[in-house]
Amino acid sequence: MIPGRFITLEGIEGAGKSTQARLVAQWLRSAGFTVHSTREPGGTALAERLRRVVLERGEEDILPVTETLLMFAARAQHVAHLIRPALQRGEWVVCDRFTDATRAYQGGGRGVDAALIDSLAGAVQAGVQPDCTLLLDLPAAIGLARAHARSGGSADRFEAETLAFFERVRESYLAIARGDPRRVRLIDASAAVQTVQARIEVVLGELVHEARASR
Ligand code: TMP
Repeated sequence: MIPGRFITLEGIEGAGKSTQARLVAQWLRSAGFTVHSTREPGGTALAERLRRVVLERGEEDILPVTETLLMFAARAQHVAHLIRPALQRGEWVVCDRFTDATRAYQGGGRGVDAALIDSLAGAVQAGVQPDCTLLLDLPAAIGLARAHARSGGSADRFEAETLAFFERVRESYLAIARGDPRRVRLIDASAAVQTVQARIEVVLGELVHEARASR
């Protein structure tokens, strides 16, 4: 059996992550792998409920620490009920966002202490780490314009944030990529969808080759 792999996609809003996540799962399935396509916050029934709580624009201000705890509450369910069991069965998991998003949005964007995020990640993930992270990078102004065009007047709590917020998020993602270049593959997401897809397929080819070699 070829061991499963955990692939995550990251980037600011409007980077085209969800489209590429779908294409990644399709590519891996046509290469013969069993693939779970999932997302964060979300991926289990309870985690999807927490997603609604954290994305909706309600009356009460959500504190950065509360937001962080909600992300990790959803992640704990997702890791325990979906991600870890799938990887243990030798299946592949393609996840639209994971803990790098907490580091970038809550850490970089909102100023939540990195040590708190590290500590929660250690407790919740207990050794589950992405094997490969595709970071779809583009200037924050372009991403935000794309996201606003898509959501119209119904932007969620994050989409309603300022350009300066998304610039901090982007910088945090780039710092994560610089700190862990083996895992995090930087992809220029300002290119056309097919160009981004082709670049990602090169990375997937390498990953499949490594997985087959490690049998
Ligand atoms: P999206 O994945 O559909 O783009 O929406 C999820 C939103 O949640 C997005 O704005 C980023 C945000 N988010 C965080 O702030 N922290 C996290 O840990 C995760 C997983 C998502």
